[in-house]
Amino acid sequence: MEKNIAVLSGDGIGPEVINQSLRVLDAIGKKYDHKFIYHKCLIGGISIEKTGIPLTKETLDTCLGCDSILLGAIGDPKYDNNHHLRPEQGLLKLRKKLGLYCNIRPIKVYKSLLYKSPIKKSYIKDVDFIIYRELTNGIYFGKKRISKSRKRAYDICSYNKKDISRIAIYAFKAALKRKKKITLVDKANVLATSKLWRETLKEINIKYKEVQIDYLFIDNASMQMIINPKQFDILLTENMFGDILSDEASAIVGSLGLIPSSSIGEKTPIYEPIHGSYPKAAGKNIANPLGAILSVAMMLKDFGMKKESLLINKIVKNSLKNGISTKDINYKNPSSTKEVGDFLINSINLKK
Ligand code: IPM
Ligand code: MN
Repeated sequence: MEKNIAVLSGDGIGPEVINQSLRVLDAIGKKYDHKFIYHKCLIGGISIEKTGIPLTKETLDTCLGCDSILLGAIGDPKYDNNHHLRPEQGLLKLRKKLGLYCNIRPIKVYKSLLYKSPIKKSYIKDVDFIIYRELTNGIYFGKKRISKSRKRAYDICSYNKKDISRIAIYAFKAALKRKKKITLVDKANVLATSKLWRETLKEINIKYKEVQIDYLFIDNASMQMIINPKQFDILLTENMFGDILSDEASAIVGSLGLIPSSSIGEKTPIYEPIHGSYPKAAGKNIANPLGAILSVAMMLKDFGMKKESLLINKIVKNSLKNGISTKDINYKNPSSTKEVGDFLINSINLKK
């Protein structure tokens, strides 16, 4: 197969983790006779630096013309006090313009890392759930304003039925292939949008009646994630709650650096690790590349390259088992970002 991939490395550790991902992808391409053509574009802080804005028309057009987008990380503390221009605006705009309303974040515990989580082993052993986070609406995209006097500000959270239904249908379909259970996380005791989420889900449930829905308030859900994470299978939630819960969930797995994601919907899908740009680690060859590399595995699966995707998952698991891991996981005897890449590439080449 031949695939065109827009490569948006972004800021901080983004370029380093993407470099290793592309090396892995090249090794896969060579082994299975695929041609991956990379189209490198700017986004985020680096784009502001070079063009004055976080997302240019050129980047957007390239993304629209590709089969998929591989993204590193976005954010630079340099812009923390800048009210008008922020690197993150580039990512949010890209997600919105491409209509990528369904963000999928798998949370799967590795046996060899059970000791890494601050949570008791018996609580997290065999945890395996997927967060379906709505990605193009809610408080992130509602009307927002800060008054001239800077004494008042608001952010509106808004959802309509269509926004909710379209991601819910993805979640129901996924549930049918798994444990037939969805946990909807909301704040329906307070928020009107949450009430609409519940009503909409109940309606869709009529069509997917084998699926059982659990309803949890966000405050309770964030506690349940620590004391009983095994109860989750498909966790469906709105944009902001999903952002927060996915970082929390990464603590179960052992490192934020391990979690991949895909964002799908109307146009070109994005594959990106859920971690941020981790500016303090940038350029030091210490960042964990596995979140990005596992995002590549999600991309290959969506391309229909099942064995290629499985191979990446398998060798990643093996690298963790062998302690070939960056500092966030193997503090005592860490491998560098590149050494993790080297190990994976060797594993690909060795596999018959
Ligand atoms: C994420 C990130 C982004 C988000 C930021 C960088 C805007 O935290 O993908 O989880 O909040 O969606
Ligand atoms: Mn986040």
